[in-house]
Order: sequence, then structure tokens, then C-alpha cells
Amino acid sequence: MALSNLDRRSFLRGAGASALLTAATFEPAMAKVPSVLMRSLPEDFDFDSPYDRVGTDCIKWDTPLATYDGIQVGMGIADMDFRAAPCITEALAKRCAHENWGYLRRPQRYSQAVVDWNMRRYGLEIDPESIVWTTGVHPGIIAALQTLAPPGTRVVMNTPTYNGFYTDVRFAHNVAEDNEMQVVDGRYQIDWDDFERRVRRSNVFILCNPQNPTGNCWSADDMTRMGEICLEHNTVVLSDEIHCDFVSAGEKYTPFASLPNREIVDNSLTFKAASKTFSLAAMKVAWYFSTNPTLLARVRANTRADLTTLGMEANYAALTEGDEWFDQLSPYLDANHNFAEKEINSRLEGIRYTKAQGTYLAWLDVNGFAEAIDAAGIAARENETAVTQVTPENIVQRWFANQAGVYLNPGHSYGTGGTGHMRMNLGTSRQMIGTAIEKMAEAIARI
Ligand SMILES: Cc1ncc(COP(=O)(O)O)c(C=O)c1O
Repeated sequence: MALSNLDRRSFLRGAGASALLTAATFEPAMAKVPSVLMRSLPEDFDFDSPYDRVGTDCIKWDTPLATYDGIQVGMGIADMDFRAAPCITEALAKRCAHENWGYLRRPQRYSQAVVDWNMRRYGLEIDPESIVWTTGVHPGIIAALQTLAPPGTRVVMNTPTYNGFYTDVRFAHNVAEDNEMQVVDGRYQIDWDDFERRVRRSNVFILCNPQNPTGNCWSADDMTRMGEICLEHNTVVLSDEIHCDFVSAGEKYTPFASLPNREIVDNSLTFKAASKTFSLAAMKVAWYFSTNPTLLARVRANTRADLTTLGMEANYAALTEGDEWFDQLSPYLDANHNFAEKEINSRLEGIRYTKAQGTYLAWLDVNGFAEAIDAAGIAARENETAVTQVTPENIVQRWFANQAGVYLNPGHSYGTGGTGHMRMNLGTSRQMIGTAIEKMAEAIARI
């Protein structure tokens, strides 16, 4: 369906509408710079003007709109609202001008683009021959589980963790083994005794670095300790580093594969993509690699990836020409975190947010608010007749969707330790975050 034919009227209501209309008249400061000067300046990307995605079948906006009446801001899932980096759009337009879509080969330049990105940005050396393409991090993790974890195997995860891991574990007929993290001064830390106890009875551990949803950027010391415990108990580490490019100011991403102990690194596979960094999730390209040829060969034998021409073009352009775009986006997102932390803690009674070290996700402690609306009591009453279990976080999600028009992800879906929390996606214009918090504050004031 052509975008121009979409019916946007349902979205252009209330504050959502005024936010977008204001944005339409927004004039970037660069417009005032004489054109002769502009040509010599690096391009200034606009992340501030809201970009309307409604009606494109995107999960972030169209799913909440289809589920609840009156949604004004979709703050769920993990992709970003920004207009794609121009280098991606240009590469796709150029390729579309050639009107043939036959089978695609995979020349070395694609792997080299991955190698160069990781070397340039993190000093991480990857052997191009060790890169295995997949149509997403999920298919890669599933291939690894199906190779390394016979049905019924317990798979250790530090929870709360990415809800999609539970789907992967179920898909591979395995069982999730939650190592619940401890919260100290608003920060999540590993419970080491519990971790070791669980690793002992497992043979796969899924690490998430940076951690979705808590934002933890794991230190080399923490990962070395995890790696040592896993090595001792013959548990392979699957390190999902899809969020690695999103690191808050003053924080650091350490690739698991960069740890100094070679034995620890050889006991792991790393899963990565450019799909979070450049919001290319539905382009279906990701990859994994390992320094251990035997381990790699075993998982590779269970991996099949049918990649698409447009997916590869978009990813190649992003990895080879997208640095400048992302280098401007990164501080914008960092400022989004600062803005959200200040606004949420000062305006949303019963909700606390401690700025994440990484990712563009905000993990909100909503315990006080849930109590104020008796979410647990409502859930308990609904469970007397409900077919599927209702959690207090389901009630909080529904409350904000109905009362504020704001859609958030419920904490219970991120495993043990997720109760009393909601996840808010900050990968959007600051104006949208402001609108969401404003609407939530107004709704809370009406209680
Ligand atoms: C930690 C993590 N891993 C994997 C994925 C999904 O990866 P893909 O779309 O490449 O399968 C997500 C998406 O939100 C994620 O947050």
C-alpha cells in the first residue's frame, strides 16, 4: 500500500496530532546557514522531527492502535522511529532502479563490512571466514540451541532479560533457567551463587550485552567471571550483542569475544546485527561468529539463511557509510535517556527510572503506581475467570493505554524479576517522549 494512501486520521488526534503538526512546521537551524557554507559542513541529521510510521504495518504503532482505542504514542517493542540514514535510502533506491530480483550471491565485501565496522568502532578482530549470516539473531540463537542443547536442556539467562529468548528456548524444546539479578541502588547485578548453581545443571547460557531490558553494559570482570564458571561446567556462552552500539555517555561496551582469556572466548558464539543500530529489523539480516572452529562448524551445519537483496544492500550501506549518522544519533539518544529520567522521576508519581548504561530502552519501576491502582487486586479478580493468566503489569499496560493513550511493554514478559516493571522505548523524537510522559502525568493526576 502506498504511504500516501494511508488513512492517518485516526492517529492525528489530540496531543499526538499537535506533536506531529508542530513538527511539520519545525525549521532545522541549518536552514539559516548560507547554502555555500552548508556544502562544506557535514550533514546534520534531523532526529527531532517526529516521523509518522502509522499505517505501515509496523508493530510499534499499528499493533497498539489495533488493540486499544485512543493510542497516541507507541512506546513498545525495540525499533526506532527515525527516518532511515540517507545512505541506506539512497542505496535501496539505486538498487530498485535495476528491475531484476534474481538469486543473490554473497561476495566477501559483505563480511568485510562487518569486520571493518567492529574493528573501526571496537577494535574487535573478527575473521571474515568465521562470519555466518542469518535472517536475524533469533534464527542464529535457535540454530545454536538446536545444536548444543538437546530437548529438555536448561538454558541459563540473567533475568529480567529479553522476552524473545523465552520464545527461542521453547522453540528449541528447552527450558528457561532464570538467574534472577539483584538490584543494588537501582542497578542490576549478578547473584553469583545462584548463577553457578544454575550453570552447573545447564549446558548453554544466553548472555545479553548490553542487557535488554535493564540496559546493563557488562564489564570485562563480570563477563570473565561468567565465562570462567561456564567453562568449568561445560556450558557454552551465546553472547547476544545486538544492542552493542547503544552506549550511554561515560559507559562502555566490551565485546565478549575481546576478553583476554582465549579459553573463555573459544567457549562462546557472538550474535550481532546492524538491525537495532540502523532500525533495519524487517530487512532480516544478522550474523554470528566464533573463534572456536569446531563449535562454529557444528552450529553452521544447522543454519540456513535465505537473505534478500534489499536486506543486504541496506546493511552494506549502513555498515560502510552509516558511521556519521549513528554518531549523531547516539548523543541524541543519550539526551533522551537524561530527559526521560528527569521527567519521569519528577512528574510520574509511583514510577522510578534509573538511566540505563546502554540500549535505548528505559526499564521503569512502577511498583508504587501499580499499588496505587491496585493492579494486583484487579489481576487476581480477573484471573478467577480469565483463560490466560493476567498479571499486574497487564493491568498497568491496559491502564496507561486506556487512560493516557500510551503503550508500554509489561515487565513480567522479561522473566523472573520483571514484575513491578514496564519497558519504555526511547528510540524516538524527544517530542514523542515528552508527549507520552505528559499524557501519563495527566492520567495519574486524575486518579
Ligand atoms: C536482545 C535482543 N536480541 C535479539 C532481538 C531480535 O533480533 P532479530 O530481529 O535479529 O531476530 C532483539 C529485539 O528486540 C533483542 O532485543
